[in-house]
Amino acid sequence: LHVVVLMGGWSAEREVSLMSGRGVAKALRGNGWSRVTELDMDRDVARRLAELKPDIVFNALHGTPGEDGSVQGMMDLMGLKYTHSGLETSVIAIDKELTKMVLVPHGIRMPAGRIVESESLFREDPIARPFVLKPVNEGSSVGVAIVTDDGNYGSPIGRDVEGPWHHFDRLLAEPFVRGRELTVAVLGDEALAVTELKPLAGFYDYDAKYTDGLTEHVCPAEVPDKIAAAMKDMALNAHRLLGCRGASRSDFRWDDERGEEGIFLLEVNTQPGMTPLSLVPEQAKQRGTSYAQLVETLIAEALK
Ligand code: DAL
Ligand code: MG
Repeated sequence: LHVVVLMGGWSAEREVSLMSGRGVAKALRGNGWSRVTELDMDRDVARRLAELKPDIVFNALHGTPGEDGSVQGMMDLMGLKYTHSGLETSVIAIDKELTKMVLVPHGIRMPAGRIVESESLFREDPIARPFVLKPVNEGSSVGVAIVTDDGNYGSPIGRDVEGPWHHFDRLLAEPFVRGRELTVAVLGDEALAVTELKPLAGFYDYDAKYTDGLTEHVCPAEVPDKIAAAMKDMALNAHRLLGCRGASRSDFRWDDERGEEGIFLLEVNTQPGMTPLSLVPEQAKQRGTSYAQLVETLIAEALK
């Protein structure tokens, strides 16, 4: 079989995707796959895929357009098989507001946010502080700011500071959930584990995510059993309700002063990172599944 590992592209998470893709390609070669092509996506991606004629595409893209359904739709039209979620799921899950519209009516608790115009940000706070401001469809904390009475953490924002906000068409303001940062990977039909992320400084932003040593990962997280079980349930439910395929990763905040009521799902990632510091591989490993086995599982699922 010929596998093309699709990576890179032009999203804000290009570099992350290159790390994911190289890791996947290396694992496949190590597993004995003889035909592995690494394809850094450019505008000619459809032509390149038509030439390469892969039996399977490993989608290692993150962000737009590899995670938002565009690339999935193109591959559907071309009759190609690919890993991870399909078109409809991707369109919904990339958009944190659309995700709420699907999940909240099913009883999955998510912060009550609202979409704001970036122009209005410089006139007044969109909601009461502390709040989080984030592009509605980016990943890896790109463009995320936490705004408190003491100041702003993350990207510059405020009445006096020109932020990078004009790059993002839609922003979401959400009440900041105090407490702890946790994540749950779902692989196939199983929630793997709960990991707590403890950044040594600030919050779990882009640098804290991808610089070795800046964040402590505690897996399994030291939380009460019933909290861990509730999070795993929510992650598995979200995965099913959105129709995710292969792997997904649900990110949470837990206000530990409020018990189970304090668990908030922030988002579901349909193209979770596969870098050396990424959380799905880490949870898989904790369960006895190596990175190489994880890659094989994702391919097997896509070939079904
Ligand atoms: N958006 C990054 C790649 C993740 O979810 O891991
Ligand atoms: Mg994300």
